[in-house]
Amino acid sequence: MPTAGRFITFEGIDGSGKSTQARALAESLESEGRPVLLTREPGGSPGAEEIRRLLVQGDGARWSAETEILLFTAARRDHLEKTVEPALVAGTTVISDRFADSTRVYQGAARGDLRGLVDRLHADMIGTEPHLTFIIDVEPGAALARGLARNSGEDRFEDLGLAFQTRLAHGFRALAKEFPHRCHLIDGNRSVEAIRREIAQLAREALG
Ligand code: TMP
Repeated sequence: MPTAGRFITFEGIDGSGKSTQARALAESLESEGRPVLLTREPGGSPGAEEIRRLLVQGDGARWSAETEILLFTAARRDHLEKTVEPALVAGTTVISDRFADSTRVYQGAARGDLRGLVDRLHADMIGTEPHLTFIIDVEPGAALARGLARNSGEDRFEDLGLAFQTRLAHGFRALAKEFPHRCHLIDGNRSVEAIRREIAQLAREALG
């Protein structure tokens, strides 16, 4: 893993507000003169954006959990090769809206009991972990309503319903305990500004 730049990820269930917070942190670090690249998964490179369309649109049962793992990992590999690693080598702080923790939770825990497969593929094909991860923890009912209200046309996972979003929320909380050295579980049931301030403070402490 190239070490010149720092790699920060945002995670959480659909409608958790993590994209707003990722953008806010990027702006805050940039305003301090730090070179920042804000990116997202699935996507973040032209090839991975093409794979994204296959994953987030259409019927919930369109792909099995196993096929999803392969598609998300293919998209991640391209994103890593074309976008994330070159930026880290150049000393840029990379902020990604989702990364491998999403696959661990969505496909590895909530869609099925496939964490072993997710981990093996990650070790062989990705092998990179963020330095710092913010998991935005919100009440699943409110988050789902917010996500669906956006009507983005990318609701394949939101359409799996409240029980699925609740399993995801539990999965992300468990993940924060599993990787305590890099994961911060952030209470997302507060104002955007209060969350933004806490994250900016934690990032500043971690980045030095
Ligand atoms: P987004 O709405 O945050 O852009 O993410 C798109 C959807 O893809 C979201 O419902 C979460 C899902 N997803 C997975 O299921 N596994 C993954 O590895 C990633 C990156 C996203």
